Formats: sequence, structure tokens, C-alpha cells
Amino acid sequence: MKVGIIGGTGEAGRGVALRLAIAGHEILIGSRDGKRAADAAASVGNGVASGENGIAAGFGEIVILAVPWEAATDSVAEAKDALAGRILISMGSALLFAGGWPQPLLPASGSLALGIQAHLPSTRVVAALHHVPAKTLLDASAALDFDVLTCGADRAAVKQVMDLVAAVPGLRPIDAGPLEYSVVLETLTPLLLGLNRRYRTRTGLRIQGVVTAPAASPGPALG
Ligand SMILES: NC(=O)c1ccc[n+]([C@@H]2O[C@H](COP(=O)([O-])OP(=O)(O)OC[C@H]3O[C@@H](n4cnc5c(N)ncnc54)[C@H](OP(=O)(O)O)[C@@H]3O)[C@@H](O)[C@H]2O)c1
Repeated sequence: MKVGIIGGTGEAGRGVALRLAIAGHEILIGSRDGKRAADAAASVGNGVASGENGIAAGFGEIVILAVPWEAATDSVAEAKDALAGRILISMGSALLFAGGWPQPLLPASGSLALGIQAHLPSTRVVAALHHVPAKTLLDASAALDFDVLTCGADRAAVKQVMDLVAAVPGLRPIDAGPLEYSVVLETLTPLLLGLNRRYRTRTGLRIQGVVTAPAASPGPALG
């Protein structure tokens, strides 16, 4: 699959780019600055291409938004036309640090992903990849052992994102239901970051008991 990454020069974007490229996907790292994108792509290697964020937004059927959550809405607004009809993966979580400890924020839209979907009604927003530690992704020698909770309103889009993730050894996508559940995924992030600090480690997620393919119904919408 062809995947562009808006804000792909950060640790999260480069980490995801590396693992997806190794898995055989065609990846383009985007940036506000073409030179920074080129440097990041060169550091990731594995055939990863680069361009400005607008190029990343129009590169493939799937686009990953890998900017800090505060910049998410502005970043997608700039690329609104290019993102129409595409799948946009929202991997950010609204949070703040108080005294060094992460705390969840609840956007008025219900979640960051729901806010992005409201801004981009013609884009198929899927929430995923919040809980995979970027430093572990970036260490190509590190074996992955994580679940990727994935939710969205467009079931075909969720399936495509799950297929994308499933190609990466050690990542298991899980259909977590409708996009309303994104608030749960997002507010889990500061909890995991708090555990990282408290236990001086890098946490990830594993859900016990999921062994079969998901049922066709995504389950009820919240709210
Ligand atoms: N770090 C992790 O372990 C991890 C794991 C899962 C999910 N995430 C999520 O992934 C996202 C990216 O994380 P990160 O740690 O890679 O973030 P980051 O390094 O702080 O930012 C990523 C990139 O976003 C661009 N950017 C920064 N400020 C911006 C602004 N005001 N407007 C537009 N673009 C801006 C920058 O690219 P240019 O300057 O090149 O444009 C930067 O390299 C976050 O939402 C985070 O919550 C992170």
C-alpha cells in the first residue's frame, strides 16, 4: 500500500515509516520543510521517499497524521482537499504534562479523532497506532509484541488500516469499534506514559482473549 505521513520527521512518523517500509509498503515522509523530510527519509532508508506535507497528503490511499496533537487540526485543514476520499490515521492523543506527569485532555469534539473527522467530512478517519512506542519502532533490531486498537466509522477503512498494520511482524490490529471509542484510545496514552515514567520502561498494549476475526457489526456508537 502507498502511505504518506504528515509530520513524518518526528520519532513516531519515522518509526512507523521504518516498520511499514520493511513490511513492503511504499512510504513517503512529509514535513513542513522538504529538506527535513529528505533527511528523515534518508535516516529511515528502506526506500522511503520524502516531500512536503501536501505531497504526503496526496501520496497514497492511506495518510498518517503524525504531528503533535495541538497541530493536528491546522495540519489537516491545510491538506483538506488532498485528503478528501482518503483514509487518515489519527495516532495523536490530547494531553498535557503537569509537573512532568501526563494528564488526559478531553477535546470539546469528544476526541481528537472525532474533531478531525468533523473538520474533514469527506475523509475516512481511523484512530490507531496511539500505543506503539516510537523508540521501539525505530530500533529495527527490536522485536515488536503489541496490539493496535483501531476504530472508525467507515468499516472498510478500518479493515484497510488493520491490513496495513497486520503486515508488520509483531503488530496485531484489533477492531475496537466505532470512532467514538477513540476517546478511550486517546486517554489511555497518558496513562501508559505515566507507567513509563513510574516504572522506567516503555509500555505497550496486549489485549487478552481476542482470538477470532471481528464480527461484521462494529457495535453501538457511544454518546
Ligand atoms: N512518540 C511516540 O512514542 C508516539 C507513539 C504513538 C503515537 N504518537 C503520536 O504521534 C504524534 C507524533 O509524535 P512525535 O513524538 O513524533 O511528535 P514530534 O516529534 O513532536 O512531532 C512530529 C513532527 O510534527 C511536526 N510538527 C511539530 N510541530 C508542528 C506544528 N506546530 N505544526 C505542524 N507540524 C508540526 C514536525 O515536523 P516538521 O517540523 O518536519 O514539519 C515534527 O517532526 C503525536 O500526536 C503523538 O501523540 C507518538
